[in-house]
Amino acid sequence: MKIKNIIVIGATGNVGRKVVEFILQRQLAKPEQLRLMASTQSIGKQISIAGVDFTIEATDETSFAKNDLCIFNTESEISAYYIPKAIAAGAYVIDSSSHYRLHPDVPLIIPPVNQGLINIEQRLYAHANCLASPIATALAPLHQAFNVFKANAVTYQSTSGAGKKPMDECWQETKSLIEQKSYTRTCFQRQIAFNVIPQVGGIRDDGYTFEEYKIIHEVKKVLGNDILMTSTAVRVPVMIGHSIALTVEFKKSFSLDEIKNVLKQAPFVQLSDNHYSTPVEVVGSDDVFVGRIKRDNTCENGLHLWLCSDNLRRGAATDAVEIAERLLLCLDERSKENYKIA
Ligand SMILES: NC(=O)c1ccc[n+]([C@@H]2O[C@H](COP(=O)([O-])OP(=O)(O)OC[C@H]3O[C@@H](n4cnc5c(N)ncnc54)[C@H](OP(=O)(O)O)[C@@H]3O)[C@@H](O)[C@H]2O)c1
Repeated sequence: MKIKNIIVIGATGNVGRKVVEFILQRQLAKPEQLRLMASTQSIGKQISIAGVDFTIEATDETSFAKNDLCIFNTESEISAYYIPKAIAAGAYVIDSSSHYRLHPDVPLIIPPVNQGLINIEQRLYAHANCLASPIATALAPLHQAFNVFKANAVTYQSTSGAGKKPMDECWQETKSLIEQKSYTRTCFQRQIAFNVIPQVGGIRDDGYTFEEYKIIHEVKKVLGNDILMTSTAVRVPVMIGHSIALTVEFKKSFSLDEIKNVLKQAPFVQLSDNHYSTPVEVVGSDDVFVGRIKRDNTCENGLHLWLCSDNLRRGAATDAVEIAERLLLCLDERSKENYKIA
């Protein structure tokens, strides 16, 4: 079976534009086989991605057809509304939103960890968020070697992780403060310029934010529900690139050299040069950079790590496109050339 068109919904957004760029770079589709969709306010808008000009189409109930591959890069409620219609039309779907991630019948794919779950019978895939994906990418090989007992992820999340408008707001608020002009925020509830906000997403009744809940449960869904996990998510005035202070307690003993050796061999993981990486240094890479590797001396088998990754790639556009590439390969296993769409 051949996929006829790849449809990118939310193609004007931070993740959607990267998805289109990577599809073209990896030659998964010719430009004429790519359809870009967004909200009604973007219909007819011209955008240029990787040197190719596209016109944004409307997203509606009739947008999807049998043998389309639809990649949704939209907020949860948009995904929730359109994805059942795309599936009913006979399309394959990859969703970047959180809507289906914890659904028991939908595989949650973190490509460096579990892309083997992709098969042609399954029509809908979710990828994990831009924290759960780098955490699991670094933790999976360590879990295999030393068995994770518990983990605590404190995140330092860039503004692009919230979408294009919040990222632009951080820039505008910073500029206004420097120029001593007034600025009215519409995205962040507190000042983000020159500040940090210890709240990402709404706060639940149990005191955790929805973002922290997603990080915890997405990692557990992929690595194992028996892992004890907690998290505190913080928004920082960085444009692109998430960082994570990750504390892990293992069931088995380890040496720091053993930890480094496992991480060196892990796919899409790099040991940072010069002790650690910072967000601006990892933008443009699909890898998770690991530094500040040291023992947590408060318990017997404890470890501290500092992770950095490009949040518009790992746990976002890269994961979505890697799932698409693998699915196309599964749909046509005859030769590597043939899996690119007809
Ligand atoms: N940013 C990240 O680091 C990241 C990482 C992992 C997952 N995600 C998830 O990926 C999704 C997209 O995030 P983002 O950061 O790219 O957001 P974004 O920059 O705000 O983009 C949202 C996109 O959705 C489109 N859209 C809005 N309403 C629509 C409608 N009714 N029908 C069709 N399209 C509509 C927007 O189109 P218009 O331009 O026309 O409004 C825009 O293209 C979210 O679910 C997010 O949680 C984001």
